[in-house]
Parts: sequence; C-alpha cells; structure tokens
Amino acid sequence: MSALAGLVQDRLAQGPMPAAEAMELALYHPEHGYYRRSTGPWGFEGADYYTALDLGPLLGEALAVRFAQAWERMGRPGQFVVLEAGAGRGWLGRDLLAAAQGPFRDALHYIHRDDNPAARAAAREALAPHLAAGTARFADEDEVLEPFQGAVLSNELFDALPAQPWRWDGEGWRFEALGPEGQTWLPGGPCEATEWFTAQAEGGLEPGDGAPWCQGLPRLVESLGAPLAKGLFLTIDYGDAASRLVDKGADIRRFRGHQVDGSWWEDMGSADLTADVDFTRLAAHLEGAGFREAGHVSLSRWVRAHAPLAQWEADWQAMEPALRVKRMENLLQLTLPSMMGERFRVLEAWKNCD
Ligand SMILES: C[S@@+](CC[C@H](N)C(=O)[O-])C[C@H]1O[C@@H](n2cnc3c(N)ncnc32)[C@H](O)[C@@H]1O
Repeated sequence: MSALAGLVQDRLAQGPMPAAEAMELALYHPEHGYYRRSTGPWGFEGADYYTALDLGPLLGEALAVRFAQAWERMGRPGQFVVLEAGAGRGWLGRDLLAAAQGPFRDALHYIHRDDNPAARAAAREALAPHLAAGTARFADEDEVLEPFQGAVLSNELFDALPAQPWRWDGEGWRFEALGPEGQTWLPGGPCEATEWFTAQAEGGLEPGDGAPWCQGLPRLVESLGAPLAKGLFLTIDYGDAASRLVDKGADIRRFRGHQVDGSWWEDMGSADLTADVDFTRLAAHLEGAGFREAGHVSLSRWVRAHAPLAQWEADWQAMEPALRVKRMENLLQLTLPSMMGERFRVLEAWKNCD
C-alpha cells in the first residue's frame, strides 16, 4: 500500500471523506502529493499529461503580443511585471521573455510562482539566463508582493485546485465522497455551492446536473489580484460557463498517460486530478476584486484575435521544413476544436485601465 493510500485509510476510519479533501491530499500532501513530488509529471513520454507549453513556443509568442498591447493601453509603464501563478516549469515565461520585442522587452519582468519542487527545479534551468540578468525571479506562494503594474497570468492553474463535485438527484443535492465501500454520493446542502448551481442551471435542474465547486477560488483570485495595481489578468484553462458545467454534470477527472481515466479515487498521489474551471464564477470574483471587462472566449478564438498570424507566416517561410511543420502543428493544436481550441478558454479582465 502506498503511503498516501495508508493516510486515506486512516482518515476514512473517522468517517466519509469529501472528494475535495481527497483531491487536496492527492495533489498537495507536503510529502506524497502529486504536485509536491521531487520528480515532475511533465512531457510526452511516460508522463501523465502535457500542456500547451509542450507543443511549442506559439502560446508564449502570442502572449508577448497581447501583453505588449496591454502595456500600450496602460501608457507604457517603465516596468511591466508578469506574475505567473502555477507557473510549473517556467516554459511559458521563457517563451514570453524570448518573444518580447523593442521597448516592451526592456520593461518586461517575470515572476514565477509555484511551490511545486520538481517544477521549480525545471524552471531554474529554463529561466537561467533571465534569472542571471535579473529579468526573472521566483516568488513563494505565500510571499506578499509589492504592488506592480503588468499582468497576472496562469495556464492550467485553476483546474488543479481541489474541487468538490455536487449532483442533483431529482429531489436533493449530493456531494461526492469516499466511504468505507469506496466512492459514493452523500446527501448534503443547502450551501453556497448548491445555491450557485441552482441559480446557474438554465431551464431548471435535471437529475445528474451538477459540477465541481472550488472552495479556494475566491481566496486565490483575491491574493493574485491584490498586488496588481493596474493591468491585465489573463487565465488559460479548460472549463466552461457555469450553466454548461451544471448541465454536463462535470466531475473530477484523472489523467494517466495522457488519457482521461474515470477512477479519480484510485492510486491517489500517482496521477493528475483536475476539475473543469467555472469561468462564470471566476469572472464574478474578478469583478468583485476590482477588475472590469471580464470575459472569456475559446482558446481558438483568442489565438485568432491576438496572435501575430501574418508575422508567423512570414517568419516560418525562412525556417527549414521540419521546423516549419512543427510550428504549424503547434498552431493546429492551439486552434483545432478537437485539440485545445475549443476545450480551453482564455479569460481576460482589466484593472484600472480606461
Ligand atoms: C496543471 S499544473 C500546470 C503547470 C504549468 N502552468 C503548465 O502549463 O505546465 C498546475 C500547477 O499549479 C500549481 N499550483 C497549485 N496551487 C497553486 C497556488 N496557489 N499558487 C501557485 N501555484 C499553484 C501546482 O503546484 C502545479 O505545478
């Protein structure tokens, strides 16, 4: 039995364990949690998942253009700080710093925030020249940052927060849990989560409706948004509007070997667990934290609206064929509906920018 399985058994002796508590343990137990291990789950071969960063530099290049536009809108401040939360291996920061151009490049400063030890070790390598030059640095998750102008960025952060799935059974609400017999749905509510889902269900609730509720979302939005004096909050993740998630009956998912694997409660600590992000709720909390113009679109639409497509086409002509094909594949992955294009969304919200 793994150390984490032993901890779960001890915990179950005290009574059923809500799924969110199990997800917290599986991902963030200080010693055995999936995101607290010393070796990373990244990449293609033998790993559980890959993110947009494994596919090539285009997301970072598109963000460099978008942040340069934000910098213009903000009146070209002398320093434009990008705080990336859940920054993982730091590849997005690396690609962003490499793609920035002109006077915006001189203003750009990158902060990597992620206490995941394996990710941080990889980021130390990926960001080495920028760390040496003083244009990038690390911040601990509990570090209180000085106010800054710039952007708060995240890619697949909010889906990695512990979340509690709820279901409407036709007569009442149930929450997912682990009991002595295994996974189960227990009666619960009413509470903030069930009130939110009831209010968001379009055309009334039907049996099977429900979604994961991320208890930690407001506090994280608050702590990330607070030091941003002026600028853009930009989040990339999978998920949807609340009404669609409730309609779908979204649940926690487990990834192994790049496949979704239904049994999130098996082999906890050795697989990636994720929950769809409720973009309606995320936008509402950003509005509550002083952000304006909060809106989200599919990644495909965001790339088509903001990426330097004509520039890419011109640059790629000069590349050797194999590299050109790689870039085209990278663009297809980001935009095709069956790949990341429609499954991922990009949320933007602005603070103190008129
Ligand atoms: C799914 S991974 C994504 C990593 C990276 N952004 C990528 O695309 O490869 C989620 C990361 O979020 C980190 N994380 C979770 N909660 C966090 C928090 N409150 N602040 C910063 N990072 C956090 C985890 O340690 C983990 O490395």
